[in-house]
Order: sequence, then structure tokens, then C-alpha cells
Amino acid sequence: MSAKPMDEPLPEWSLIYEGYRPDQEGLREALCTLGNGYFATRGAAPDARADDVHYPGTYLAGGYNRLVSEIAGRKVENEDLVNQPNWLPLTFRIDDGPWLSMDEVETLSLRQTLDLKRGLLCRDLRFRDARGRTTRWNERRMVSMADPHLAGLCVELTPEDWSGRITLRSALDGGVTNSGVARYRDLANRHLDVLELEHRGEETIFLRARTNQSQLGVAQAARMRLYVDGSPVDAQRRTIREDRCIAQEIDCTVQANTPLRAEKIVAMYSSRDWAISEPGIESLRALGNAGRFDELRAAHELAWAHLWNECDIGLEGNEASETELKLRVHIFHLLQTVSPHSIDLDTGVPARGWHGEAYRGHIFWDELFIFPFLSLRIPTLTRALLRYRHRRLTEARRAAKEAGYRGAMYPWQSGSNGREETQRLHLNPDSGRWLPDTSHRQRHINSAVAYNIWQYHQATGDHEYMHFYGAEMLLEIARLWASIATYNTSLDRYEIKGVMGPDEYHTAYPDTDPEAAGGIDNNAYTNVMAAWVLTRALDVIDLLPGRRREQLCERLGLGDEEIGRWLEVSRKLRVPINADGIISQFDGYDDLEEFDWDGYREKYGDIHRLDRILEAEGDTPNRYKVSKQADVLMLFYLFSAEELALLFEQLGYPFEYDTIPRNIEYYSARTSHGSTLSQLAHSWVLARADRARSWRLFQRALDSDLADIQGGTTPEGIHLGAMAGTVDLVQRCYLGIDMWANVLHFDPSLPDDLHRARVRLHYRGQTLDVEADHDMLRIRSAPCTTTPVTIAYRGHYRDLSPGETCAFRLLKPEERDRDENRHQAPSHHATDKEPRP
Ligand code: BGC
Repeated sequence: MSAKPMDEPLPEWSLIYEGYRPDQEGLREALCTLGNGYFATRGAAPDARADDVHYPGTYLAGGYNRLVSEIAGRKVENEDLVNQPNWLPLTFRIDDGPWLSMDEVETLSLRQTLDLKRGLLCRDLRFRDARGRTTRWNERRMVSMADPHLAGLCVELTPEDWSGRITLRSALDGGVTNSGVARYRDLANRHLDVLELEHRGEETIFLRARTNQSQLGVAQAARMRLYVDGSPVDAQRRTIREDRCIAQEIDCTVQANTPLRAEKIVAMYSSRDWAISEPGIESLRALGNAGRFDELRAAHELAWAHLWNECDIGLEGNEASETELKLRVHIFHLLQTVSPHSIDLDTGVPARGWHGEAYRGHIFWDELFIFPFLSLRIPTLTRALLRYRHRRLTEARRAAKEAGYRGAMYPWQSGSNGREETQRLHLNPDSGRWLPDTSHRQRHINSAVAYNIWQYHQATGDHEYMHFYGAEMLLEIARLWASIATYNTSLDRYEIKGVMGPDEYHTAYPDTDPEAAGGIDNNAYTNVMAAWVLTRALDVIDLLPGRRREQLCERLGLGDEEIGRWLEVSRKLRVPINADGIISQFDGYDDLEEFDWDGYREKYGDIHRLDRILEAEGDTPNRYKVSKQADVLMLFYLFSAEELALLFEQLGYPFEYDTIPRNIEYYSARTSHGSTLSQLAHSWVLARADRARSWRLFQRALDSDLADIQGGTTPEGIHLGAMAGTVDLVQRCYLGIDMWANVLHFDPSLPDDLHRARVRLHYRGQTLDVEADHDMLRIRSAPCTTTPVTIAYRGHYRDLSPGETCAFRLLKPEERDRDENRHQAPSHHATDKEPRP
């Protein structure tokens, strides 16, 4: 055979599944998704059709469409990430027997390997058909990271104990619907009109489709070639058009123990692509220029090698290779969702990746957990992804105005044009009832957008971005908070009413009409974040060069009086704190009932989704002190103790350092972790105070998708916030990275099980190779031409020029407690129990 042998993937880079397990297939499909930031395809078998076991899905980044459904007597419109035509179909039959279907043959062995290093999905199987013939199927699949429009399947089919005539069938199937999420199955789901099914020349089939509302045109072209011993096989082909599907059937003969190699190369374009005439022409041209599978694969592997060069993480310690592998799975899926190919696209980061249909491919606040890793690895990518929000600023302004506010109000769920995409009704699968969904009241999403802008600027020092885009959004969000806040004369405080915090269990006060669910008042997280945004907005105004500042203020009609109000609100927002010094999640939280955690655990076992359980019982979490996920604790996730102390001081509230562990204890005991973001945030905030517990939660967060700990949600799409967040936890939390006042602070404190960590960071134009163990921190800057950056370890500052190295001896835990330099600059960790300076 002339083609490269199908080499063995490395175990520390491989996710391996053995055997065929129909009950696990959905999970494997999601976790074996291949993508390149432009499109993604689930790891379904090429012979699979959507049914109760399999769900092939291909999604274009940001490829949305809206449909109206009639549900519970109401018309509701939802915008979905569209399942695009399935390019995978490839199967065969012997003589005129049945087409291969995994469910119909006896599987002798099956090994499915996701090769993370090379970005390949390998499926190696042996099976015996009903007539006792044994066949090997060795498949390699890629979605090219080198050319975002190309994908390929390469199968070596080897008859072990038979020879004869076979027919291979390759297809492009436009007959797909959006039916990957059981909860959505009562909703309208046919988004595609198939416009053209053609064959071009001998080898190529072609499909053109268009979404039926957003008019997104898509074209796919597929080429099939067969080889034996490296030479093309002469074969008889016919084209078959079926309802919305075009197929090519190829007849040939095979010999026992002689592999037949089938290469299916596919090109896909959409009408939103740049530098195109129209998608059909481009997909055919791209296919015409595409080489053989191994050529495409070489370029693809090189692109992955370059990405890993920037984004890998190196660990040493107990079971470090297992942790490393899981982190790599997470980095892999992050880079498949957003990659350098996303830079020219108008997409945000979807909470569930482009890996399935859960949450309809929408963009949430989860970016808050995702951008920090990207900003220190591929900052250009964060810049591009933040533009997604800037392009939707007009829509956010419109939403604010319509709600009676000033500034810009970003939606809780965002899709195509930035309008609010949160569904109006959602199904509780436990009760079968459709219920009003009021989660759009999570106005805190706006602070997440502002926080991401600020963090990106800290990591890059990209003033041009701030001047042209960032400042405008940040000021408009500050303006929103200042206008939402209402003054309470008797308290002499500003209040933010009728919102929801990150804890989605509390939609309203008990005994209020759920249809009108009016939210809750003074959510501590929302209010502290609003004070932070207003304070940063004032900083941004100072930061802008004179003329830019004048022009922006003129354009926004922003004058001294309004800025004065921002200052006032930023100092007087209300934060409910109870008599024990516990920050109340919101006003009235203390009056709620304690929940019978043990009783419910005993009764239901898995109580992650208490909202569904209680609703099915005719009760509501609104009555209890229960949280779905970190809410108050998000403050300790996002801010150092020192920064929070400053914020509380500014707001005129006491803040003792020991309130942090007490709040962590309090809310840990009252959280069901109904979101995968929760364990991550809890692990982070415990990283210094209770390292063993933090490590356990971290391990659990690492398994969120790999073990599908939410019991069935991962097959519908991965959880990108938890994935990126766990990598960021190792990077920023364990290394104690904090970017503050133009200084990159480190304060490493590795868990006992980790002996050493290595990361490569991009900080303000320099590439820094950072390595820490329990004794030393070493930072090596790669040679390049740029200005020095300032690095600090607990108040010890160094200017580092490109090409230079610096090292710090790390304090032992007992020395850390006595260290007076601790508070010279904020560190990232909120949980060091040290006295206030
Ligand atoms: C969580 C949200 C999150 C969303 C998307 C929900 O279950 O409660 O915080 O933004 O999932 O990941």
C-alpha cells in the first residue's frame, strides 16, 4: 500500500473506547466530535442514522435558524443551531445483501480512539455478518484544522475470510432535522430546504440547502475514490437521488486479506463565508483542489501541532498523566469550538460547543469561564470573539431602551442578531409540564461581558481594542447598571430589583405568581459586579487618550453629571449581609426555609436538578435556601480577597477575611451543583483554604463530560465552561496568576498531588514558559522584539525582557502566613485566611 500506515495514537493523548455500547453511543458521539472552529461533526458512525441510539450531527459555527412552534396553546419562536446535512454516510454491502449497520452485525471487536494530538477519530472494528463472513473496518476521520472547509473519511475495508463483489455507498444527507434533544422534540425541527442534489463528473456528489428562515445557504460536495495497493480501483458508479439525499453507489470486487481503501473527501461552504462567489462554486473548487486523504491529514496534523504548541499544559505528580489527559480532552474541544478559523467569523463561544443541540448553540455568560484561558494563550482569538458582542451593541441598546433603561442590555442567551433568545417556555421532563422560563432576568450577563473586556485588556495591553470597541461596551453597560439601580431613601442605598442571580433556582419570591415570576431583589453577586463595572468604567474614562475620550463621550452623550451618578451608585449599591456576616444571596434569602437535603438525597439519589424535582412535586425551590450553583461564591471566584475588600470598603460594608471561608462553608452546604459550572467555581474558591476538598471537586469537574455526571446531558453537547474552566483552574488558580495594574502576579500553590506544572503564556506580546513546583517558580521569556513586562511574586517585582529568565524561591506554607509582602498586590485567590492589611 502506498498510503501511510495507520499509526498508533499515543496513550497520553488518546481517549479510547472499547466495544460497542448502544447505551453509551450518544456520549461517545459528543465526546468524539471533530471540529475546527468553522464547523463540527459529532462522532457518529458513518452508517448511523438518527434514532434512539445514534445521532449524527453537523453544525456550522453560528449557523442559526428560527422556527415557530405551537406549545401548550401558545405560539413560541426559538432560534436553533441548525443540524446541517450529514456528510458522513459511508457504508457497504456484500453482493446484494443488507447495508452494513452496526446494530445488525456481530461485533467481534471495536476500538474507537480520539487522537487528541493529531485531531483524528479512529474507529477500528471487526465484525461478522449473518452469513458468517468476517470483515475489518479501519476508519480515520478528520475535520481539517488546516482548511476549515474540508473534512475527510478514510476507511480500509479488509475481508478476512471471503472475497467477492461489494457495493459501497457514500451520501450527503439533507433529510436531517434538529431532534438531538428529547426535551425539544415537540418543537418545530425542520430547518433546511434542500435545493439541489447533483452529481458532478464521475466522483463527486453535490448538495445545496438553505435554512428556511435565516436564509443561510450551505453547499457540500463529496468525492469518493477507491484504492487497492495504492492504485485507483476501476469501479462502476451510479448516482441515486432520494428524498433530500444524494448518494453514490460504487460496485467493485474485493479479495480476502487485501484492504480496499475508500477515501471520502468533503468540502463545505456557507453563504456567510468571506472571499467567495457562492457556496456551491467554492465547495466544488475546494474539492477539485483537495489532495488525497493523507495529504490533507498531514496539513491538518501540522495545524494541530501548532495549536498544541501554544495551548498544552504539562503536569507531574500523582496520577498526573490521567489529569493531563482529561485536561487535553478539554483543551481539544475548546479549540474545536473556537480556533484561529473563528477569527473571521461572527460567532461567540457557545456554552455547549458546536457539539450538539442543547441550549440551541446559544451564547451565555459561560464566556466568563472560557476567555481567561484563551486570553493568555491565543489572545487574538479572544479579541475576535469579543467583537461578537460589539456587533450586537445596537441590539443591546435597543433592549435596554425597550425595558426603560439607558445604555446597553445584553441578552441572557444570544444567537444570531443579539436579541434575547431565552426560551419563553421550557419543559420539565420530570413532570411533563411546559413552564414559563424567566431566566432572561439574569442581567448579570452584562457584567460578565464587561469583565471579559477588562481581563482581555489586562492580559494584552491592547489599547487599540479598548479605544475602538471595549470602552464603548463597558461604558454602555455601566450606564445600564446606573439606570437600573433605584434609590431607596430610607436605606440611603441603591437597589437592583427584579433580577435573577447565577443561581437559577430562585426565580421569584415564594407565593408569587410563577407566570409573572418577578425575580428577586438585590442579588449580592449582581450588585457587587455592578459596583465593579461602574468603577472600571470610571477607570476606562481615565485610561482613554484625551481626544478619544472626548469623542466617545460626545458620541454617547455622556457628561459629568452622569459620570457623577456612576460614582455615587458604585459606592452606594446595596449588598445584603446577615447578622452572622454571611452575604445573603438576595434580599429575603434569610427568611426562606432550610431544605431537607438528607431526606431528598435518600428519596431521589441524584438531586442535581432540584428545580425539576420540586416542581414535579408541586413545590418550588423559591421557598428554600437551595442554590443550583455558585452565586455569592462567584465573587470569590472572580476577585482576589484584596480586590473584594476594596470593593466592600468602597461600598461602605465591613469585610473581614474570615468571612470568605464562612461564606464558602455556608453556601457549599446549600448547593446542589445543578450546573457543571458549580463544582468548578467551588473547587476554585477552596483552592487555598481546603486543598483536599478543592482537589476532589476539581476531579469531579474534570469528569463533568467524560463521565457525564449530570446523567445524560453530555450527549446533547459538551459543557464548555467547565471544560475551559478546569484548564484555567490549573493555569491561573494553581499558579496564582492575577493581572493587575500592568503587572503579571504569580503566587503558585500546587495541590499536594501535583508536583510540577508547566504552561506557556502569552502576556503583552511576550511568550512566557512558566514552570512551578512546590519550591520554585521559573519564567522564561522567548526571544522576540517587544518591551519588557513586569512580573511579581508576592510583592517581589522583576522587569522581564524577551529572552530573559527569572526565578523565585517559593515560600513554604508556614512562611506564607508570616509573609508581609502578601498584600502588596492582589493575588487571585480569595481564600487565604490572612489578616486584613
Ligand atoms: C447554568 C447557567 C449556564 C447555562 C449554560 C445553565 O444550566 O445554570 O449558568 O450559563 O447552563 O451553560
